[in-house]
Amino acid sequence: MCGIIGYVGKKSASPILLEGLRRLEYRGYDSAGVAVLDQAKLVVRKKLGKIDEGIARLLKAEPVTGQLGIAHTRWATHGVPSDKNSHPHFDQSQKIAVVHNGVIENYDALKQKLARAGHTFKSDTDTEVLAHLIGDCYEKRRGKPGANGDALTQAVCDALREVIGTYGLAVICADYPNLIVGARRGSPLIIGIGKDEHFVASDANAIVAHTKKVVYLNDYDVATITPDRFDVLNLGTDTATVQISQLEFSQEDAARGKHAHFMLKEIFEQPQTVLNALRGRLDFEGATAKFGGLNMTSAELRGIDRIVIAASGTSWHAALVGEYLIEEFAQLPVEVEFAHEFCYRNCPLEKNTVLLVLSQSGETADTLAALREAKRRGHRALAIVNVVGSTIARESDGGIYMHAGPEIGVASTKAFVSTLAVLSLLAVHLGRMRNLPAKRALEFLRALEALPKQIEAILAQNNSLKKIAKKYAQADDFFFLGRGYTFPIALEGALKLKEISYIHAEGYSAAEMKHGPIALIDSKTPTVFLVPQDAMYDKTMANLAMIRARQGPIIALATEGDKQIKKVANDVIYLPKTLEPLYPILASVPLQLFAYHIAMARGCDVDKPRNLAKSVTVQ
Ligand code: F6R
Repeated sequence: MCGIIGYVGKKSASPILLEGLRRLEYRGYDSAGVAVLDQAKLVVRKKLGKIDEGIARLLKAEPVTGQLGIAHTRWATHGVPSDKNSHPHFDQSQKIAVVHNGVIENYDALKQKLARAGHTFKSDTDTEVLAHLIGDCYEKRRGKPGANGDALTQAVCDALREVIGTYGLAVICADYPNLIVGARRGSPLIIGIGKDEHFVASDANAIVAHTKKVVYLNDYDVATITPDRFDVLNLGTDTATVQISQLEFSQEDAARGKHAHFMLKEIFEQPQTVLNALRGRLDFEGATAKFGGLNMTSAELRGIDRIVIAASGTSWHAALVGEYLIEEFAQLPVEVEFAHEFCYRNCPLEKNTVLLVLSQSGETADTLAALREAKRRGHRALAIVNVVGSTIARESDGGIYMHAGPEIGVASTKAFVSTLAVLSLLAVHLGRMRNLPAKRALEFLRALEALPKQIEAILAQNNSLKKIAKKYAQADDFFFLGRGYTFPIALEGALKLKEISYIHAEGYSAAEMKHGPIALIDSKTPTVFLVPQDAMYDKTMANLAMIRARQGPIIALATEGDKQIKKVANDVIYLPKTLEPLYPILASVPLQLFAYHIAMARGCDVDKPRNLAKSVTVQ
């Protein structure tokens, strides 16, 4: 959600910034802009629209030169997407440029104060107010550097002390040809360390082509960055801990490769990403799963009385599957909360309740807030996260990485399935500390081990899935129905379809349908029915008959060898046979492809769906 990048070094900044913007585009694509310092003058280019059609064309027509610069790709919060609301924004003197990811909550009060002092504004954004505030503080600091270094860093610190809200930001000033000031609170920011050059970026994808050495800034950190050094101070504590980390992925991992879209690439990666999630964690000897990073002893894990899982969006759907898994295998009560609800209602947490958060990005503001809230209340907070070094990964008391590699497609696919794989392992791990018999656990581990090959078999049906998708691509409304373990997958299938094809789709319990929503069924409303051969099969088939009796077209996801389903469904997608708790993993894959092909048939941009952005860092 908004991407920022900054460069200071000996190379030309503009191509580095532009390439960085391309790699950050999944965080927002309403508009983009760059500011480069060219011979003591800040030169700015900004443009409405996606990067290739907007800023890239503009930079080609009107190039900029200089070795210091900042850039931004926007997901609008304050002010409509437009050239004038694009970042970078300037202060009153036009000497200071700012790019910002986050929300300045008290921007209105600050704007009025600055306006009374004679400031005039060109945009409707909160960021421009921040730029003016920094400029105002700079005027007061200029010529009188204090004990703590340059006047620009001091001005940024002064300004941020007046700000309520969240920010990951980068600031440059025409008076400082070698300096970027970066700061974060609530929105991620990292420093990339190169030879005679440094970078700032909102995530590592933007800079992994240049360096693998990074520093993850913490909240309230302010960094002063020049070509040959960087210093970090913390606004809260005055001193800051700086730890250099090594990135574990390469530029190729974050590239689209031969696939038409990141989403398709990530769907096809799933045999490998599931394997990665399971690697080294299947313990056949102990008939359990093992993890390195939970940071809890067996006795502590055994002492948990209840787990609350908090997450958002697709990760929340994974949480629902987690509830079924952990309750079934470990007989431990689990409650699933939307992360934002958990934070703001007084949800009772008993002494031995643990919070588990799920997040692909590890930066989702709502989920991070839930984690902090649980910790504030003195509870242990664990996390299942994909992005190594993300804020949630660093702030949790312990956790499990998905090891799915960079997920760039805005619609989450492989991370969802990896989360399910990790939750399955966790359920066995907790179950084996309680009453789960070894025989049952072993059977489950073997079924988990078979998943990558089974996913491959599903992916091999891509062409027939495409044909089915085309048949239904013009429908205005869809239902996705499932029961038991596949109920959350019905929700997820509907979410995938609506977010990338803009078709109205409702995920619902197949059983609950008859209590009202069935009124919406007619011959023009297709239903995707999840009906694997599980304990609920007969009941789900009865629910299916109700839709059929009302002329609703049915696309069924069924288990290989099910002949019965062919007689009642218009189209059937077959899943390999597995254990009931693992159908969510297998069923997710064809639903992702189904949504992808429908979106393609409707001419939608699946990697950049309208109004969305990856990594929602605002509440
Ligand atoms: C949907 C999607 C979102 C995210 C949600 C949470 O395809 O990607 O619903 O799942 O914003 O994101 P993470 O998992 O990064 O916390």
